[in-house]
Amino acid sequence: MSEKQTYYITTPIYYPSDNLHIGHAYCTVAADAEARFRRLEGYDVMFLTGTDEHGQKIERKAIAAGKSPKQYVDEIVAGIKDLWKVLNISNDRFIRTTDDYHVAAVQKIFKMLYDKGDIYKNEYEGWYCTPCESFWTEHQLVDGKCPDCGREVELTKEESYFFRLSKYQKALEELYEKNPNFISPQTRLNEMLTNFIRPGLDDLCVSRTSFKWGIPVTFDDKHIVYVWVDALSNYITALGWGSDDDSLYQKYWPAQVHLVGKEIVRFHTIIWPAMLMALDIPVPEMVFGHGWLLLEGGKMSKSKGNVVDPLVLCQRYGTDAIRYFLLREVPFGHDGIFSNEALINRINSDLANDLGNLVSRTLTMSEKYFGGKIAATGASDVLDDELKVLAGDVVSKYTGLMEQLLFSNAFSEVFRLVSRANKYIDETMPWKLAKDEASKDRLQQVLYNLCEVLRIVSILMQPAMPDTSAKILGYLGVDEAGCEWASVNTFGATAQFSTSKGEILFPRIDLEKELDQLEADKQKRAAEAAKAAPAAEAKDAAPAEITIDDFAKLDLRVAEIVACEIVPKSDKLLKLSLKVGKEDRTIAASIREWYKPEDLVGRRIIIVANLKPAVFRGVESHGMLLACENSEDDCKLVFVDDCTPGSQVR
Ligand code: MSP
Repeated sequence: MSEKQTYYITTPIYYPSDNLHIGHAYCTVAADAEARFRRLEGYDVMFLTGTDEHGQKIERKAIAAGKSPKQYVDEIVAGIKDLWKVLNISNDRFIRTTDDYHVAAVQKIFKMLYDKGDIYKNEYEGWYCTPCESFWTEHQLVDGKCPDCGREVELTKEESYFFRLSKYQKALEELYEKNPNFISPQTRLNEMLTNFIRPGLDDLCVSRTSFKWGIPVTFDDKHIVYVWVDALSNYITALGWGSDDDSLYQKYWPAQVHLVGKEIVRFHTIIWPAMLMALDIPVPEMVFGHGWLLLEGGKMSKSKGNVVDPLVLCQRYGTDAIRYFLLREVPFGHDGIFSNEALINRINSDLANDLGNLVSRTLTMSEKYFGGKIAATGASDVLDDELKVLAGDVVSKYTGLMEQLLFSNAFSEVFRLVSRANKYIDETMPWKLAKDEASKDRLQQVLYNLCEVLRIVSILMQPAMPDTSAKILGYLGVDEAGCEWASVNTFGATAQFSTSKGEILFPRIDLEKELDQLEADKQKRAAEAAKAAPAAEAKDAAPAEITIDDFAKLDLRVAEIVACEIVPKSDKLLKLSLKVGKEDRTIAASIREWYKPEDLVGRRIIIVANLKPAVFRGVESHGMLLACENSEDDCKLVFVDDCTPGSQVR
């Protein structure tokens, strides 16, 4: 290649709302492996990752933590960057949606779409899932809940700007038809067609007014840009689109692949290309929707307390082992189960046994029989030809699979060669050859072939295990040219190996002992957490200090519950009719789990009377009641039966 071909790959930008877990690492490691593979092939690669920092979810978490949203995200983003370092992620850029250049470019995008008439003002009334930051129509809800995550949705009514998504229905259909790989793998295309495209696209609400943590619309600053419009734009703003220097954008856009989890494929394959079409910007070549890494009990989530921390795993088993496991265990595109047992078995069988043995047997024999100096002697055998043909076949299959992001199959090919080489040792029996002086040349040729296999295997394993590959190539004493992709197809490219005996790469793990140990550690952690919980909770819950003036803004009143009923289609809500002095009012509260309506009538409680009204499940709620959250499973209202309804609480 005279001028290098470019390859632009992205991960989703992550919500810095909690620490990231092994599922997030899964996506980033996969993108990293592809980026490394393409660099190896000779591409000029741009690999982007980052954080998606705006939105109601983050704003609420920050408030709960008593921090400003920016302060809150800054801390978590620092942790995310550290995690990527530990996982040896080789991203070229890291974008934060709070970066100035991104904010300015998103404002420009919004204005351009508005000027073009593709964004218009209207009123939005519909359902919003805050954890997913997604809008849903009534008919898209499943049992009244978010169809993506199954959680409660909130009825929202706001003046909003809308993007004319419906206008791009036909253009999107044509895009999918002309580019069958645009949505990959094929199953994801089918999901998009069935669930969204065929039922017909509605215009999309693209601004919010009910909270502040977002990018203001320049020409109407009551509004902030919908977080997905903000987030998706990162793929071009990170390259300087719309700025004074857009040279990276000119060089790398359109992206070759956006790698995303299956639940966000619809944003990337419907909203994003429609936005780009509206802006007259070319669309990316491919959106690949991978599956989820699940636990035996289902999805990982903080509330279930079952998240697997990638930092802990890397510390215990090594980064390369974790990277390899993530790439090898589950065919990319499918869901897969993470378990400690599967991880340990994979480390033992592939890394300690197959690869580790091949490395240590080869290096030991090279040292023992030839003082580490190995060159080809020409004393060949038909077994050697077979090994060479297999190596060539593996390289070519591996290349095709990596180009299609089929990591598991690609690395399984590499291990086909590793296993064959181990068998080759058993067949050629170097220890027997060593006993006969006349077989010295043959012995050296056998060891040369094994070193060549290890050299090729190391190059192929680089995208998954960069450190291990570098170590093996170092032990073989291969020069720079011998580490290059160009040499991977030439079995025999190395003139001489100068080997040294390395450390054991992957010590074998005693499965039973290790599982017992992990269980013991888990119990210890749970006991420590239980002990520390009250203190930690108190600390977490401690809000920022306020002044007496801040407190005076609250209008706290005694209210008498005169009627109470269940809110239809909701597991949590009760509708309370209240008398607050002479005034009647209604409050919807999520207390159904703890109280029966009939037990509440006649009781007196404290309410926040000057809270902005909100609609929950069709009930307009005027205020909030005071309750004490004893634990996640227990909540008690603050009763003040001796107090007079309407009187103020100070
Ligand atoms: N912020 C949005 C993405 C915006 S991209 C313009 C978002 N963030 S996320 O942090 O919730 O998720 C980021 C990625 O992690 C998603 O692709 C998601 O599918 C992936 N994963 C989160 N949990 C996962 C598993 N358990 N398994 C595999 N991937 C998972 O969505």
